[in-house]
Amino acid sequence: MLQRDVVVIGAGISGLMAARRLVEAGHSVAVLEARDRVGGRTWSDTVDGEFFEIGGQWVSSDQDALIALLKELGKETYSRYRDGNSVYITRDGVRHEFRGDFPVSAETLAEIDKLVTALDALAAEIDAAEPWRHPRAAELDNIQFSSWLASLTDDDEAARIVDHYIAAGMLTKPSQTFSVLQAMLMVASAEKFEHLIDEGILLDERVVGGMQSVSQQIADELGPDVVHLSTPVRHVEWSDAGDGRPASVTAHGERVTVSARYAVLAVPPNLYSTIEYTPALPRMRQIAHQHQSMGLVIKAQAVYETPFWRERGLSGTGFASHERVCEVYDNTLHGSDHGTLVGFIVSERADQTWALPEAERKQAVLESFAAYFGEDARHPIAFYLSDWGSEEYTRGAYAASWELGGLSRWGHLQNEPVGPLFFASSDIQGAGYLHVDGGVRIGSDTAARISAGLRADG
Ligand code: FDA
Repeated sequence: MLQRDVVVIGAGISGLMAARRLVEAGHSVAVLEARDRVGGRTWSDTVDGEFFEIGGQWVSSDQDALIALLKELGKETYSRYRDGNSVYITRDGVRHEFRGDFPVSAETLAEIDKLVTALDALAAEIDAAEPWRHPRAAELDNIQFSSWLASLTDDDEAARIVDHYIAAGMLTKPSQTFSVLQAMLMVASAEKFEHLIDEGILLDERVVGGMQSVSQQIADELGPDVVHLSTPVRHVEWSDAGDGRPASVTAHGERVTVSARYAVLAVPPNLYSTIEYTPALPRMRQIAHQHQSMGLVIKAQAVYETPFWRERGLSGTGFASHERVCEVYDNTLHGSDHGTLVGFIVSERADQTWALPEAERKQAVLESFAAYFGEDARHPIAFYLSDWGSEEYTRGAYAASWELGGLSRWGHLQNEPVGPLFFASSDIQGAGYLHVDGGVRIGSDTAARISAGLRADG
């Protein structure tokens, strides 16, 4: 059995960041990772000779913590191609090429503005770190986001566009399944709605070598004596401090057991219940953990001989909330002559798409790409669909969020330790919520809290 100051369970960005800062502060650490690789929801692979980022990849220009980490690690970034017109397809199938505002009527644009103003005004009242403290938290947490939008406008198209950015674009759940408070947390975590929709901010840069290489470099610097791969933790024994005894924890991994003073559970909240605890976690935790669930999105990527859309004056950006692929972007790899499109298939459409036989699934996705960019989009040289729903150690994408009513009822527990057990994931972080930036922040903050505890314990 290994003896360490801290055992970290999970080698995604949150866990690795906690380990990095704890080691820097002079503490001994073991990281136990279930998979045979680090990076969690950031992952790259070469398929049909092409390099794909299968999970999280973009760096927003407002994500200070991630940008500072990239600098610290000496990582380079590159911009997404964004010259030219975007494509918007209306519900009745009319295809528009446009720049700037959506090509909808002046009345619909005014309604979108009205909704965004209402969203931003409410989000400004919410502290992303503690949304449950809002005086109307319980009320807002029991109103479906879809109903709230419908109560503010009769303009279906305006409501659908605003709904799309939060429901399909971020939480990857249907908007009747989450609350206004949950949507406001999403907006507040990025400061304002514009930061979630302005592709110039949101999808600004990518990391040369892929986002997973950030976690890989941190793990390499920690070394194989610290990071243990292929070691799922199945059982955690813990005891609180008392009667002059310090708190302690034993994490039983499949290949390695670690005894430590503190543990960081750096797994997404939907997986807390896959681990057995002795003694059991406090009753409110056991109840609360059943109400944080993963959204579902398929990230679809097609590589072509050339980025043919650029020659036609198109940026590669497209939106159509009713299409199977509801958003598309140019995702061409740094330094490549080939061109890549990335698109997203969300919620029920993701279920329907996976239900198709493999060949039909590919054709169905390419048909959707063709709706935006024409027949050439049907003939990629490489194609990949990211299926996070079948990954045992994730179980969906992009992230876990609270079901209706859960955030106001149990959210205040999510960042509180249970005895020596601390929790860290981008999915329970305020600023940078549901993003790699959030993982960097919560990993560092958790390390600081534990380091203070270790110093106080002596
Ligand atoms: P993460 O899930 O990454 O790590 C948890 C780790 O715990 C995993 O390595 C897992 O294997 C391990 N684990 C689980 N159970 C275990 C057990 N019992 N024992 C040991 N280990 C266990 N973000 C962004 O900023 N920009 C973007 O462009 C995108 N896009 C995007 C696309 C897709 C398809 C996905 C899936 C996600 C994104 N994201 C994103 C979100 C981003 O990837 C995500 O917020 C962070 O990577 C989460 O990091 P964490 O470390 O918190 O969890």
